[in-house]
Amino acid sequence: MNIIWNKTSGQFHLYNDRISYIMGIAVNGELTNLYFGKRIHDKENMSYVIFRTAMPNVLVDPDTESYSMELNRQEYPSFGTTDFGMHAFEAETPNGSAVSTFVYKSHMICQGKKGIEGLPATYADKEEAMTLDIELEDEEARMSLVLSYTVFRDYPVIARHAAFKYHGNEKVRLKRALSCCLDLPDQEYEWIQFSGAWARERIPSVRKLGSGIVSVESRRGVSSANHNPFVIIKRPDTNESQGEAIGFSFVYSGNFIAAAEGGSFGRLRVLMGIHPDRFCFKLSGGESFETPEVIMAYTDGGLNDLSRSYHRLYNNNLVRGRWKNEPRPILNNNWEATFMDFTEERILKIASKAKEAGVELFVLDDGWFGERNDDFAGLGDWVENTDKLPQGMAGLSRKINAMGLKFGFWIEPEMVNPDSNLYRRHPDWVLSSPGRKPSLGRHQLVLDFSRKEVVDHIYNMLYKVIDGAMISYIKWDMNRSLSEVYSQTAESEEQGGVYHRYVLGMYSLYERLIAAFPDILFESCSSGGNRFDAGMLYYAPQAWCSDNTDAIDRIRIQYGTSYGYPIVSVGSHVSAVPNQQTGRSVSIETRANVAYFGTFGYELDLNELNEEEFEKVREQIRFMKKYRSLIQFGDFYRLRSPFETDQAAWIVVSEDKNTALLGFYCLRANVNMLPGFLKLSGLDPDRLYMMENEKYYGDELMNMGVAISRFYKKGFTIAEDHTSFVTVIEAIDQGI
Ligand code: DGJ
Repeated sequence: MNIIWNKTSGQFHLYNDRISYIMGIAVNGELTNLYFGKRIHDKENMSYVIFRTAMPNVLVDPDTESYSMELNRQEYPSFGTTDFGMHAFEAETPNGSAVSTFVYKSHMICQGKKGIEGLPATYADKEEAMTLDIELEDEEARMSLVLSYTVFRDYPVIARHAAFKYHGNEKVRLKRALSCCLDLPDQEYEWIQFSGAWARERIPSVRKLGSGIVSVESRRGVSSANHNPFVIIKRPDTNESQGEAIGFSFVYSGNFIAAAEGGSFGRLRVLMGIHPDRFCFKLSGGESFETPEVIMAYTDGGLNDLSRSYHRLYNNNLVRGRWKNEPRPILNNNWEATFMDFTEERILKIASKAKEAGVELFVLDDGWFGERNDDFAGLGDWVENTDKLPQGMAGLSRKINAMGLKFGFWIEPEMVNPDSNLYRRHPDWVLSSPGRKPSLGRHQLVLDFSRKEVVDHIYNMLYKVIDGAMISYIKWDMNRSLSEVYSQTAESEEQGGVYHRYVLGMYSLYERLIAAFPDILFESCSSGGNRFDAGMLYYAPQAWCSDNTDAIDRIRIQYGTSYGYPIVSVGSHVSAVPNQQTGRSVSIETRANVAYFGTFGYELDLNELNEEEFEKVREQIRFMKKYRSLIQFGDFYRLRSPFETDQAAWIVVSEDKNTALLGFYCLRANVNMLPGFLKLSGLDPDRLYMMENEKYYGDELMNMGVAISRFYKKGFTIAEDHTSFVTVIEAIDQGI
């Protein structure tokens, strides 16, 4: 890993063993991108990449005769001169002009990586990464801009963000401040986005790029289930195991845009950052604004390789604290078992059975506080409901800990029901626009987390509940999108910053709770996966992946999620049948075979299982305890896509390639068809492995494949809808 500044050419080359990122200073003083891709040799001067021929009808810069921004690759394109593409930022100066020209002023190269004030970001120590900060300035606007780039030793990624500062005596309005732009020299790419809605989150879809704009966006105040802030561009022939692809992952949990624009002359531009709609930050003299971070990853080894780069980076350099790289406790959550209708006695009964099964953590979901007996009331009143918990959280947590189980509970701190003491006392604490009724979602309103006193109040209430009890885990939920985003105390010129300040307020509450209770494991949740993004992983190392717990739908959701997020971050539980979302009944084996590939737990009352099923649950828990380190931190490979076939398969392989766990799922039976073969990935081709009492070479399993018929229990059992198997593959040292 290194960052080279080639002084004579004014070019920067960031590289590690796998990638090179090269940019230079163009003749107009602005930054131009020269290359991002597979590692290449360093060369003093690569100016030949810059196009310097005047073309008819193309505007050129006045001082440089033949240089047009539109014909070249920009590093962080400005608005208003000769580029005409989508711009990365827009700063309106006091005279109303939004034309900008930020030219190179200085740069600094340092070891390691700095954090971003108030925002989540990847981190690295001095040996792990190097950072380049390039300072640019626009004298006319009296503004400076620092573009930061980090190259990591161990991953083919570049982390980027930008910081603006105003130095004048008046005010500028920053109306757009995206985190990154990558201009590429051709448009031969496909775009993969991960979209959906509640209960069908992060479903990949692919489309061809070309001339024009393709984008995914959220204006919901959360990153959203509708479009995830993670996209991939890939070459048309790239598949899971080979070919070029570039990923863009936004380390942020609010509004966003990710766009690809095919320009008229063959250039492709990819942009990502906070959505510019209703974004406007006023900067007075001396004030600055820092954007969140984007992680760009490159591979020439296919999509599985790209995903593994994100998995490793996020596990090692984004997730923090006690739970980083720690196998996660197997939990039992009472939500689908009781909803809000429970007594302490019922909870203890569920917990005691969970303990008998081998569960390690019991989670009390929604309904323990205020007048919370249904979703019409109580949110905001973070005081125990003593009808349900006579000795409060302290009493219940003591009893559950005494059983030998860890204990955790549910909160939804960003919300308030109109029917709550908090709202009756502070009706102005919600986001709402003057003179208009705020819209309700699940009968609740959104607290104005852009205000410190609101966040402080919620912190103090939660602190009291947690501090007095024995708490190991918290599930932090968030069940509606933001609307009528207006802060009742902010000046009118500050209103364009409220969406972002809300997110900062939410992050600050996380930060304070983590600092006060560093051993607590946080799981984020937003009606399932409505806020499953890299930003949240900085605070909560795992996320409830979806409210859809149907195993068959979950295969698709978890498969899609795995493109951008580590397996250990995926909250996945076995729930009761018929499934509450789909009505489908799937065997307890298949439900567990899917849920293993995540954090694992149960979302039901184990007392309601018959003896045979309960025995299976005990066995499942024993199995998960044995293999969870491998599953949660091994190398994950997607093998067969449920979006392209009637089957799905994936495998996790230990780093030393000694052990692997294969999961295969039949979504829909194909009648009178040979079962075929499944080619595995990630094994050592030269080693001998044992699978289901039979020996195979690694190359045999990866090239010839596993005969699926091998797993037919009797007749064609495995070929039935919704059957599955999970099998262990172990390397053996001695030959056949
Ligand atoms: C939505 C979550 O996704 C569920 O798991 C559950 O916690 C409910 N909210 C509780 O209201």
